[in-house]
Amino acid sequence: MDQILVRGGNPLRGSVNIRGAKNSVLPLMAASLLAEEPCVLHNVPCLHDVFSMDKVLTEIGVRVDFTGQSMTLDPTTAESREAPYELVRKMRASFFILGPMLARFGEARVSLPGGCAIGSRPVDIHLKGFEALGVSICIEDGYVVAKGRPKGANVGLDYPSVGATENLLMAATLGDGVTRLINVAREPEIVDLAKFLNSMGAQISGAGTDLITIVGVDSLSGTEHEVIADRIETGTFLIAGLATGGDVTACNTNAEHLEQFVDKLREMGAEIEVSGSKIRATAPNGLKAVDVSTGPYPGFPTDLQAQIMALMCVVQGTSIIKECVFENRFMQVAELSRMGADIEVEGNSAVIRGVSSLSGAPVMASDLRASASLIIAGLIASRGETMVSRVYHIDRGYERIEERLASLGADIRRKRG
Ligand code: UD1
Repeated sequence: MDQILVRGGNPLRGSVNIRGAKNSVLPLMAASLLAEEPCVLHNVPCLHDVFSMDKVLTEIGVRVDFTGQSMTLDPTTAESREAPYELVRKMRASFFILGPMLARFGEARVSLPGGCAIGSRPVDIHLKGFEALGVSICIEDGYVVAKGRPKGANVGLDYPSVGATENLLMAATLGDGVTRLINVAREPEIVDLAKFLNSMGAQISGAGTDLITIVGVDSLSGTEHEVIADRIETGTFLIAGLATGGDVTACNTNAEHLEQFVDKLREMGAEIEVSGSKIRATAPNGLKAVDVSTGPYPGFPTDLQAQIMALMCVVQGTSIIKECVFENRFMQVAELSRMGADIEVEGNSAVIRGVSSLSGAPVMASDLRASASLIIAGLIASRGETMVSRVYHIDRGYERIEERLASLGADIRRKRG
């Protein structure tokens, strides 16, 4: 297994191009199954999760051609109604295939994804929503067996789950009647999905608010679409720059998708300049402690919680993070503590007391964003080398992170295992 080796102390300086959003491209790929013609996606990031979704779609019979940063998905040959356990267990987002399969075939057998490091992550909201759309659902041998074409209905979500919103939105797009999805997620990735579907001929309004209305249509055509920039990758690079006392500009991104995050960095004392699709972060006067609570969009993203915690480890004062989205998302704490951080966790809160520096150590990545947090801590460390193991987690969601950090001046390399 590969490892990433980091020696800290170099301030990161320069510009980095932000890649397409992982959390957008995965549902967009799944949604291509709804079309009667090939679809083309541009700005597709080269990530392990994208390869996982490629495998799920190929298994169903979709022809996927991923060349450079563009991907052509031809769903005309799709015929299988099953997404097997071996594929779904590797990536929870494979479960997004259920909605499009139901809309297209009127039946589907999709493995339940199971838990993961950051929480039990049930899919009850997805399943309740499908039932409200008239689909019969039963669980057999670890699989969701779903039957019936979705019919228009009013569906209220108990919580604005991102995945459930996307799954139900895709399911309701084809077929009879008008569907109102109430108390839905408002993430930019949902807006991107609705835009993609509308360009295929769907009739969706309200994406980006908590009420989405879908007027079912008979068929969808092929389309071309540019995936939005990854706001989490943007935040990760900006934090890495600030954590090393550097000057990093994230290019080809969208500050409107990161309002609360940018506000928080400013509250910490950072100077953030937004100009068109660029965001530059510096901290000429140093940084101070702040409190952060994660929440559904437009709240502070849970996917940036571990990274900002690494930064908080070395700012003056005591910061408190309250994790309100996942029940077990402080996996990075034990490893950050081994690098000299002073962090106390109680329930869903972490108290971070700033220390003057961190030191390098061998550490183990536990999930995608925790891995990014450990790399940032390694970049901060004033002595020693940090060896991050299990980096397959980071390859799931960041494209060639070590090369891009090195281009900003970091002393970082991958050791092939
Ligand atoms: C998506 C993102 C993930 C991000 C998360 C929250 C993708 C591929 N992944 O994950 O990076 O961290 O949003 O912003 O887009 N829940 C239930 N029942 C359900 C569904 C969710 O209880 O049926 C709970 C989850 O356990 C979790 C919370 O709701 O505690 C949020 O989950 P959800 O918004 O569904 O996240 P995902 O779509 O899995």
